[in-house]
Amino acid sequence: MVSKHLLTRIYSMTRPVLQIPQPRNLCSHPKFVHELQTRLFSDAPPPSPAAPASTPPPASNLQSKSSLNETELKKFAAISETWWDAEGPFKPLHLMNPTRLAFIRSTLCRHFGKDPNSTRPFEGLKFVDVGCGGGILSEPLARMGATVTGVDAVEKNIKIAQLHADLDPITSSIDYRCTTAEKMVEEQMKFDAVLALEVIEHVAEPAEFCKSLSALTSCGGATLISTINRSMRAYATAIVIAEYVLRWLPRGTHDWSSFLTPEELVLILERASISVQEMAGFVYNPLTGQWSISDDISVNFIAYATKNTE
Ligand SMILES: C[S@@+](CC[C@H](N)C(=O)[O-])C[C@H]1O[C@@H](n2cnc3c(N)ncnc32)[C@H](O)[C@@H]1O
Repeated sequence: MVSKHLLTRIYSMTRPVLQIPQPRNLCSHPKFVHELQTRLFSDAPPPSPAAPASTPPPASNLQSKSSLNETELKKFAAISETWWDAEGPFKPLHLMNPTRLAFIRSTLCRHFGKDPNSTRPFEGLKFVDVGCGGGILSEPLARMGATVTGVDAVEKNIKIAQLHADLDPITSSIDYRCTTAEKMVEEQMKFDAVLALEVIEHVAEPAEFCKSLSALTSCGGATLISTINRSMRAYATAIVIAEYVLRWLPRGTHDWSSFLTPEELVLILERASISVQEMAGFVYNPLTGQWSISDDISVNFIAYATKNTE
């Protein structure tokens, strides 16, 4: 068992050297690679030779919105081409996906009175995937019949998500937008289910972000949020092991101090008129390389919540 004292020392030693490396290789689908190379940056204006040197542009053009944390968004913009590389920086999300989808299917089928054994249980329901990245979650949700809107503050992520979704007629129906939850609230959009998986630890104002998620959830709708617990175990596994030992993620992907404990998440959701009904942990077995659902919420956890009636 690693002691708390040792973890605190590792934490203080590793924090100052956090750096973001260059993007790694692309996923191997030939059409995707070709499309990516020809379309991704084609709408960017050519650099003006006379233009003076300037600071790098923001990762997002949505500056005035409170949930945006530019430092975090730049990290995702830098590795946006690797979303569908199952061996790249998003490997943990790819590995975790079947497990979190099992939780989503089971809770949302119960919530909406749908048959969990059906191939398209979410037919007729409108979902929004907030902070969708390259669409790792949006795509299976669309395959399960949901009408999916995928939103992300990083434009490059949305372009990658759209390119990948276009490979399949079912997923090409996903409505991808470069925007934020707050902006959609201004547009008075509502959804049966609002999902924000592994996003809240990257936003500037978690409480405000939750208020936006609540405003986007229809009365009687559901909200699902997954994140990482601010525990010493999470520091040891999600940062030291995942970023420094196994190098699954670029160093600096996660800032331990930005994590929320389950109690904090429940409280800020309650203040946003959302009641948590169920929580589960996701645990990784290094021997099998598999994730599974667990009662252990000490590292990765997910909350299924319902919108309180107004
Ligand atoms: C760790 S990724 C999770 C991606 C996806 N939800 C999943 O689990 O597969 C976090 C994503 O949230 C996006 N993001 C961060 N802050 C955001 C904000 N305020 N509004 C919308 N997207 C945001 C990032 O660009 C990134 O794509």
